[in-house]
Amino acid sequence: MTFCLPSNINKCILPDYKMKINEKELKVIVAKLPFSQGVLRLAYHGIDEYGKRVVLKLLKRMGWEEMGLKRYLEAIECQTVAYKFAQEFSIVNNDNNKIIKYTVARVAQVKNSAGTFFTIESYIDGEYEKFNNNSGWRNNDMSLEILKTFSHWTHHLSKGQ
Ligand SMILES: Nc1ncnc2c1ncn2[C@@H]1O[C@H](COP(=O)(O)OP(=O)(O)O)[C@@H](O)[C@H]1O
Ligand SMILES: [Mg+2]
Repeated sequence: MTFCLPSNINKCILPDYKMKINEKELKVIVAKLPFSQGVLRLAYHGIDEYGKRVVLKLLKRMGWEEMGLKRYLEAIECQTVAYKFAQEFSIVNNDNNKIIKYTVARVAQVKNSAGTFFTIESYIDGEYEKFNNNSGWRNNDMSLEILKTFSHWTHHLSKGQ
């Protein structure tokens, strides 16, 4: 499942906005063990049916919270909206040397009795550096100034959403 890209950011921040979903079957080979993890998710290497490298992510269980489709869809919905914001930002941003891009992720469910969900996105090579977290911490590296600008810009445009 993927969310279609919203046509307009003003529309997609409205409380009753419904993201459209596209569904199709896919085949992926997944590694047995994760290669990395964040606070919320475990990341696994994978290869899709076209031989492209992908990363599959499983949500970590947090207490008794439901680990169903809803939480997976929330994760990719957020990433899809962020993709749209980054696309619009590239039009108004005048620092042409730095571009902000998001990958659009999909949610998939394994076709077996367990029916496990996970997210899939393209593999992105390189070193990962944390820029901020949900409790307000920010990396102060000046080369990351553009991310701060983007963050402010999205906060303003989405009216704090
Ligand atoms: N698309 C990707 N390509 C390559 N490595 C990735 C990708 N996405 C995540 N990773 C690796 O997995 C780690 C955890 O992923 P992340 O999305 O940050 O999880 P969380 O949602 O828990 O923060 C990252 O720090 C990075 O090392
Ligand atoms: Mg992370």
